Amino acid sequence: MTLLDDLDDVGRDPRSGGYRRHVWTDADAELRMWFAQEAARRGLDLVEDANGNQLAWWGSGPGAVLVGSHLDSVPDGGRFDGPLGVTSALEAVDRLRSAGHVPDRPLIVANFAEEEGSRFGIACLGSRLATGALEPDRARALLDRDGTSLADAMRAHGRDPRLLGRQSWIDDVSAFVELHVEQGRALADLDAPVGVGSAIWPHGRWQLDMTGCADHAGTTRMEDRRDPMITFAESVLAAHREAGPSRATFGRVDVAPNGTNAIPSRVRAWLDVRAETQEEVDVLVRAIVDAARRSGTAQGVDVAVDEESRSDAVVFDLPLRERLAELVHAPVLATAAGHDAGILSAHLPTAMLFVRNETGVSHSPDEHADTVDCEAGVEALARVLQDLT
Ligand code: GLV
Ligand code: MN
Ligand code: MN
Ligand code: MN
Repeated sequence: MTLLDDLDDVGRDPRSGGYRRHVWTDADAELRMWFAQEAARRGLDLVEDANGNQLAWWGSGPGAVLVGSHLDSVPDGGRFDGPLGVTSALEAVDRLRSAGHVPDRPLIVANFAEEEGSRFGIACLGSRLATGALEPDRARALLDRDGTSLADAMRAHGRDPRLLGRQSWIDDVSAFVELHVEQGRALADLDAPVGVGSAIWPHGRWQLDMTGCADHAGTTRMEDRRDPMITFAESVLAAHREAGPSRATFGRVDVAPNGTNAIPSRVRAWLDVRAETQEEVDVLVRAIVDAARRSGTAQGVDVAVDEESRSDAVVFDLPLRERLAELVHAPVLATAAGHDAGILSAHLPTAMLFVRNETGVSHSPDEHADTVDCEAGVEALARVLQDLT
């Protein structure tokens, strides 16, 4: 029985077996309560900052070492993406304690809010706000799928959205280490249970609004249609065709009015693009948007494009990364997945540890990591924290 097992039923969809743990929902409240209880059981001082990030302090004062990840999920997410980093941090604290380690600086275990951006669209919402990377006014106005604003969602859970914004606790942190399940097969191929992160690819999210004209599916001749679904389909094909070694994904789409026998009036789709360099991201997005506009012109469909968020390329702190690799004798690898560690790396020395995922699958109920590998992750994290504190 590991700490992760405690969370097995929280926010689980019985039909898909996946998790729906979105910020400021009942599942999120349950996860926050669990985290608070685990902090209390260990005598850690819990603070929830104004952005909903939970911080459990072992000790107090400046120079703290921050460790943790997030408990939220994508729609139908897996068991490990996020929670493994939080439970491993708590278990590493337990190991340090039972080994009699007395830290010479504070250690903070963190649960960051809305890392996936699954409810309000912007990934790493909690860490972006805490570091001042996102304007509070913009955050307050973000809407979820039902049209509820972040401000209203926070109020419904007893939080005050007027307080959103940069946090001074950031200034008390000297380093951040995030452990995460690997979201690929690199460690499986290298036959290594644990790896050290080197970099994160730059990425971004764009919203495409394609507006045509609703009409009857039976009586409207094919040549008389202004069908935004055609433009959407041509955009998806362009993304697939143009991506090359980069990544372009349409994973979310809203169709209005969404009736089998009506030509849609509007298709709204979200594009996620990642590449090795920012320039490649820009070139790829331009190619997909150009294809969408060309299709729009041919079909009589208006195309409007809005940039939702951007994350710059991240290179983790070299001395810290080298120290980790030395301590845990692990291979070093880059990732194309986003993390709070990427946001924090612009402000303080930051590093990541990855735990092997045999299938490489993530953002899916099939995400998996073996218990022995998770234990190796905790062991590696404890060794790192012992060294840093
Ligand atoms: C977060 O996991 C992301 O990479 O989208
Ligand atoms: Mn994720
Ligand atoms: Mn994650
Ligand atoms: Mn020490």
